[in-house]
Amino acid sequence: MFTKLAGVAGLLVSLAAAQASTTQRVIPTLSPQVDAAPSLTPTVYDPVAPNAQQCPGYTASNPQNTSSGFTADLTLAGARCQAYGNDVNDLTLEVQYQSKDRLNVKIYPKHITPENSTQYILPSSLVMQPEWDGKTTAGDSDLALTWTNEPTFQFKITRSSNGEELFSTYGHVIVYEDQFLELVTNMVENYNVYGLAENIHDWRLGNNYTQTFWATDSGNTVDGNVYGTFPWYQETRYNAGGNTTSHGVYARNALGQEWLLRENNITYRTLGGSFDLYFLSGQNADGSSSALTTIQQFTQDCVGVPAMQQYWTFGFHQCRWGYENVSVLQSVVAGYRDANIPLECMWNDIDIYDLYRDFTNDPNTYPSPELLAFIASLHANGQHYVPIVDSNIYTPNPDNASDAYAPYERGAALGTFIRDPTTGDFYIGDNWPGFSVWADWLVQSSRDWWTSELAKWYNDTSFDGIWIDLSEPSSFCVGSCGNGRLNENPVHPPFLLPNDPYQANYNYPEGFNVSNATEAASVTSAAASQASYLASHTLLPVPVTTTQGRTEPTPGVKNLNFPPYVLNAVQAGHSLLKGTVAPNATHNDAYNTTEYYMHNLFGYQISNATYQALLAVFPNKRPFTVGRSTFAGSGRFTAHWGGDNTSTWGSMFLSISQALTFMMSGLPMFGADTCGFSGNTDNDLCSRWMSLSAFFPFYRNHNVKATISQEAYRWSSVAEASRRAMSVRYSLLTYMYTLFYYAHTQGDTVMRALAWEFPNDASLAGTYTQFMLGPSLLITPVLVPNVESANGVFPGIGEGTNWYDWYTLQPVVAQAHENVTLSAPITHINVHVRGGAILPLQAPAYTTAETRANPYSLLVALDESGQASGSLYLDDGESLVQEATKLVQFSYTNNCLSTTINGTYHAAPPLANGK
Ligand code: NOJ
Repeated sequence: MFTKLAGVAGLLVSLAAAQASTTQRVIPTLSPQVDAAPSLTPTVYDPVAPNAQQCPGYTASNPQNTSSGFTADLTLAGARCQAYGNDVNDLTLEVQYQSKDRLNVKIYPKHITPENSTQYILPSSLVMQPEWDGKTTAGDSDLALTWTNEPTFQFKITRSSNGEELFSTYGHVIVYEDQFLELVTNMVENYNVYGLAENIHDWRLGNNYTQTFWATDSGNTVDGNVYGTFPWYQETRYNAGGNTTSHGVYARNALGQEWLLRENNITYRTLGGSFDLYFLSGQNADGSSSALTTIQQFTQDCVGVPAMQQYWTFGFHQCRWGYENVSVLQSVVAGYRDANIPLECMWNDIDIYDLYRDFTNDPNTYPSPELLAFIASLHANGQHYVPIVDSNIYTPNPDNASDAYAPYERGAALGTFIRDPTTGDFYIGDNWPGFSVWADWLVQSSRDWWTSELAKWYNDTSFDGIWIDLSEPSSFCVGSCGNGRLNENPVHPPFLLPNDPYQANYNYPEGFNVSNATEAASVTSAAASQASYLASHTLLPVPVTTTQGRTEPTPGVKNLNFPPYVLNAVQAGHSLLKGTVAPNATHNDAYNTTEYYMHNLFGYQISNATYQALLAVFPNKRPFTVGRSTFAGSGRFTAHWGGDNTSTWGSMFLSISQALTFMMSGLPMFGADTCGFSGNTDNDLCSRWMSLSAFFPFYRNHNVKATISQEAYRWSSVAEASRRAMSVRYSLLTYMYTLFYYAHTQGDTVMRALAWEFPNDASLAGTYTQFMLGPSLLITPVLVPNVESANGVFPGIGEGTNWYDWYTLQPVVAQAHENVTLSAPITHINVHVRGGAILPLQAPAYTTAETRANPYSLLVALDESGQASGSLYLDDGESLVQEATKLVQFSYTNNCLSTTINGTYHAAPPLANGK
């Protein structure tokens, strides 16, 4: 790849000379076999790729009833077709009516043969496996499965009450090969399908979309695979007569996979493993079904309810890559205080580290005594501190005795890192610190080591939570870097950094040329001169791309790094190796499980390990950890931020649909990098984004190094917009917290799509320009530059719903389905309260703790019949196991407010007044 290596290394050293921390570092050479990203054609775009639907399919025989359903044998119904792997001849079908609303279909190899001895069946010890409730039978299920052998095995799932077909493989064969599974379901015309997080895509996924799942570190690629894997979707059908129905499908398989949403069907393909499908009826007790019920069934019963968060985590967080030292942190905290903009938590990115190494503090810029004093001052003011922890662990230079790195040494002594199958030694990749290794979460010693390293670091860095980054896991080599060059460590990343010469970032949001014409002109000309310099100078060697055809299945052999089915993955050459630990890397468990099976679970596992580590550091305190790569069930351990978005209006808009998919996936503590990560933001975008994110559960401003600063106090209008939006948010903190209580106890959503709350209005099927916070608040943000108004609808008007303006409490006057233009000066975000809601409020103060100590008041927004209701959940705000809690239910009817109280937790502030 790096053909002119010596020259490049020299160039990088000189480019880096301006940066103290990178002066001695050289670019890594990658081993020749792996440094080129082979250019493959993704199978979905390959016109000559085999059509797996021409495989013979299976024949079912020997059906046997069980207490919960039945089993049968499936036998390959013809010659092996070897489409993208080696066909497995004999399979077991297992059908379980697991509960009234959930039906499970499992298909897995019947015998362990040499061909499928490593067929990976996801164990319940790793990812929750829904089970039979011990009583449901086919007779009492909301769902029914029918099957046929004509011409080969096919099955369909219908709703028992009315025969509505929810899922059907009729007309298609099932393909089961060691490296490829395929199943096709017929879909209704213009189906409405949502979910399949993580994606940067329209909220309604549409009928011409491919969702690839292969965790990757490549920013917020629109329509590409990103960080997370949540293989489940919810489908809504707007039937005649306003009788909307909903159901869901969860496919419990963590391998690389693709979901092809097409006009009349959805094709589900994985790179192996097993079929483990859960069909959710979405049905309520009265037989109706809804999206919100389907989501509850997924969250509660399939992946587990999300962790309850500490109260303070709902305050505002400030982060950036590029806070050079402790004094800069101090000045940011002071900047917020001086501008009277609430700041709850200060964050550190990798600037804190000594030579980019986890669990270290740079002795020059972040000396521990100074950092500890800074954090103590935050704590004294009721504020908090969260630092980053990267997923990689630096491997010290064996030839340099002074290059000791104790966290590595301690882990290595336990043999706790992922291994390279070609050497049996630790797998060496590359990331910020240089050549690095990765912990093997499958072994207990690794998890114990992680706890102990975090606990040690806590002595120097008294954090309140941990930010886990790069958990795809990200590595800069294409596959293994090999371990022959560790004596060059610490090596520089094999690309230029944001603040290297000729890397100035001239990107500004859409509309910047209108609002800042003069500055935009000079930026354009500076960008042009940088581009022309770069066009005539090669700062880095051009990566070599070799062309490689699709690999062919080989009997008895699996090709882990280049499987025959080529995912449409976003990395160069659609490589599974590039940017991460190679699929053939092995773990230290009894089976030497490979990364091929674990890849999409690395982030899930590191977050789980970090959750356990924080519990050890802070016994009985709810752990606060925010991770990048996630999997179905991650919400039980971690919050998530949306990763590397851009400072653009488009990116801000798409953060709403990204958030909604996480709300429906059991991971409600979600937020995007507010004001945008990559590129420069501007006054207009940052004002609107600070206002918008105030209604997301996790509220953090963060940006990349070497772009303009974007703390909320940098512009007067951003400051004012932030103060105003935060005052709404902080008034409503108890409402947000109560929503979390319901998410945590019954799988409810926090932010909500309008379609969920108003299910019979088909015009809302794709709406995400507006959203709701819980059942009672409607948010109508400004999503385009240089305007002073926002457009939105007031759903339910004409059908019994009424709305009030949050700020004026005036009733909304609008027609049903009217696209209303609302005034939205730059410091204003439209918030409306739904009639029928009772919202407990507290006067907003500078921190969540101060706000929480203020008296309560109630906002009673009457519905058209003069009634309202609401609830308030109270506890100590931080304990995992509470000594006492309180749930207050309010109801207003016949001019009388009444309350029902359950629990004994005592909240000191009184109820002051109502309005
Ligand atoms: C990638 C993360 O997504 C980003 O938030 C962070 O600033 C950089 N890594 C540097 O640590």
